[in-house]
Amino acid sequence: MEIVESFESTNPREIEDFRLKYLGKKGLVAGFFKSISQISPQARKPIGQLINKLKKEVFQKVKRLETQSKFDSSEPKVDDVSRPGFPISSGNRHPIAIVKNRMIEIFSTIGFGLSEGPEIEDDWHNFSALNFPKHHPARDMQDTFYLQQPCGHLLRTHTSTVQVRHMETHKPPIRIISPGRVFRSETITARSHCLFHQIEGLYIDKKVSFADLKQTIHYFCEALFKNSKMRLRPSYFPFTEPSAEVDIYWGLETQADYRITKGTGWLEIMGCGMVDPNVLENCGIDSNEYSGYAFGLGIERIAMLLFQIEDIRLFYENDIRFLSQFKATL
Ligand code: PHE
Repeated sequence: MEIVESFESTNPREIEDFRLKYLGKKGLVAGFFKSISQISPQARKPIGQLINKLKKEVFQKVKRLETQSKFDSSEPKVDDVSRPGFPISSGNRHPIAIVKNRMIEIFSTIGFGLSEGPEIEDDWHNFSALNFPKHHPARDMQDTFYLQQPCGHLLRTHTSTVQVRHMETHKPPIRIISPGRVFRSETITARSHCLFHQIEGLYIDKKVSFADLKQTIHYFCEALFKNSKMRLRPSYFPFTEPSAEVDIYWGLETQADYRITKGTGWLEIMGCGMVDPNVLENCGIDSNEYSGYAFGLGIERIAMLLFQIEDIRLFYENDIRFLSQFKATL
């Protein structure tokens, strides 16, 4: 026969109260044991056994009720549905991704599709097909990371590799941009980094002219910088002929403007030119029938300008206080 009271509940708080009533430090069982000294020695043994029986029963009952309670609470219960939820902190895009996406958007509105290629490349796609002769000093323009395995491979130094891959596998007309990561073995300073992002553009069709190139870049500057004052400066790239560098007019209003434009008011933002006929031929495109232009620009540089960031290393430190400041409103 049970000597403990006939308590039943699956409410955890009630079970705990019941346990404390008997087994707590100041509970009934402790009280009974304390007062045992006051009764006659002969009666102590049976009374002691009785208290122990009570203690054991309470203990077992609490265990049973607790198990039952756990079982009951695993059934779905409808809580107060009007209670406010837990706040979910949403992340935001990396500034590089914001600028990259905006560039993709700008070019896609004038018909450029996306094309991507591998980061580990071979000499052909990074150099030879792009008209860099072997041992030509132009290869030193880009400090290359060579891989030991697989032999002869390297980390691409520019996204112009994707031009080659795309021309090898597609017939003109071609109108693509290719964003991606590139690698150069440079000393890390506030303005340079071994890993950075570029976006490459390529347009191949019949009768594509330098005027088309200039117009496209003009449109891009207007869309991204809300500034169409730009100029083309003659330059050299092995894979384009003629080649040019594009400067936009940044102005000289603040001290920072003087610093970033070296006092000229002009800022270099990209390289471009007409695709060299050798490159077209290397990729299986008839240079008598087709011509085209290409351009390439560094995304970090543009992001630094647009967001007024002074040190490129901030992009790669993953500091949430820095990264959470940029909203996709370009
Ligand atoms: N690939 C060149 C660079 O990394 C940029 C470029 C691309 C120049 C396409 C001309 C045409 O500097």
